[in-house]
Amino acid sequence: MLEFKHVEDIMRREFTGLRVCIRGWIYRRSVVGKKAFIRVRDSTGVIQVVVDASRLGEKLVDELKDIGLEASVLACGVVKESDKAPGGFEIEADYFTIIGYSRDFPIKGGEGVDYLMDNRHLWIRSPRYARIFKIKHTVLKAGREYFLENGYLEVTPPILTASACEGGATLFPVDYFGSRAYLSQSAQLYLEALVYVLEKVFSLTPSFRAEKSRTRRHLAEYWHLEPEAAWLGMEDMMRVAEELVVHIVERVLEERRGDLEDLDRDINALKKALKTPFPRLKYDEAIEILQKKGVNVKWGDDLGADEERALTLEFETPVFITHFPRHIKSFYMKIDRSRPDVVLGFDLLAPEGYGEIIGGGEREDDYETLYRRVLEQGLNPEDYKWYLDLRKYGSIPHSGFGLGVERAVMWIAGLDHIREATPFPRYRERIYP
Ligand code: 4AD
Ligand code: MG
Repeated sequence: MLEFKHVEDIMRREFTGLRVCIRGWIYRRSVVGKKAFIRVRDSTGVIQVVVDASRLGEKLVDELKDIGLEASVLACGVVKESDKAPGGFEIEADYFTIIGYSRDFPIKGGEGVDYLMDNRHLWIRSPRYARIFKIKHTVLKAGREYFLENGYLEVTPPILTASACEGGATLFPVDYFGSRAYLSQSAQLYLEALVYVLEKVFSLTPSFRAEKSRTRRHLAEYWHLEPEAAWLGMEDMMRVAEELVVHIVERVLEERRGDLEDLDRDINALKKALKTPFPRLKYDEAIEILQKKGVNVKWGDDLGADEERALTLEFETPVFITHFPRHIKSFYMKIDRSRPDVVLGFDLLAPEGYGEIIGGGEREDDYETLYRRVLEQGLNPEDYKWYLDLRKYGSIPHSGFGLGVERAVMWIAGLDHIREATPFPRYRERIYP
């Protein structure tokens, strides 16, 4: 059996002067005289393989002249350092074989986004996506790691649900054995039920939002990392959010620095973002700052992407906004007893213009108040009977939040558009492939 190496191992100089075998896909190719220069891509990088007709025959080099991009190949040969080869190494092939042909690979460069999106299953082979998905992998891993190391238990809330968590406007209806159900917008309500069992829980699930407008930061399906904890108040939960974000970014800086650099991410800006404590601004102060900057907002307005962007440009780290007006936030947020026009909710905005990556807060734990809030928001208390029950049987203070994984990846990797942060993005115009 041949033992195969990965490109990244070769790039670490571990095999210079030694014979290795690699396998992967043809990323670029050119033939000069009697030599073919084949750049082979695997999951870890790209390396040049030189196929010399004097060694492996003219027939092969002829064939490689027109070989399709993305054909899969297997090559063996001695690793040499070379100034001319991209990455500084090349393999002088003594064995080269084509595993799977690729005829007329549809992506040649210079195509528009719609065409590329139609070919997303092939587009994602670009090394850029390998970097982004590796960063996402580390974000997911680090997120889980943080909660597991801090005494949270992972639980499995349902995705098919009977009623809204985050307002009817973005609900996705599905036919549920002849009656109407919805895809989950957030696991929160079920996590709240679970804190009575396990006290500190989290889940990592897809969430669905039928967002009608096309924006750079909204998907119809995204991954949602949500903790919920008994006995914690809003301030406690904000510290959890802060620690989580710092842990995730630190891990990405440790494990994926090369990928960040290859994506031209400003590493310094990311490091500066780790300075804690993150500023904590009340919504009132946020409005004042915005008004001073000449942004046209007044107290009571929801903060949109433009307002968030303007705010984040004032700080190098993420910034918390708290105490939002009750009418712009969901029914479950706890009313601030010292000031009933606001709720104990918080958003965490990522710097450099990225804006909201986390939304959360303390939950209303008084039955009567919650019942009135359900009505106030035009919801039917019947639909929330089970949720209201939680306040009838041993109610407790509790808090939680939701981190949008693709939002976090977008900021950490420095991406322009959220659809870059997921392999098969779903938004209004797109469900294929
Ligand atoms: O602020 P949201 O709507 O809050 C909730 O869903 C709470 N129930 C979470 C909780 O307390 N457990 O959503 C939370 C986060 C947002 O901050 C954002 O990062 C992300 O989810 N998010 C989206 N990400 C991508 N596309 C969308 N359409 C998103 N909507 C929200
Ligand atoms: Mg929100």
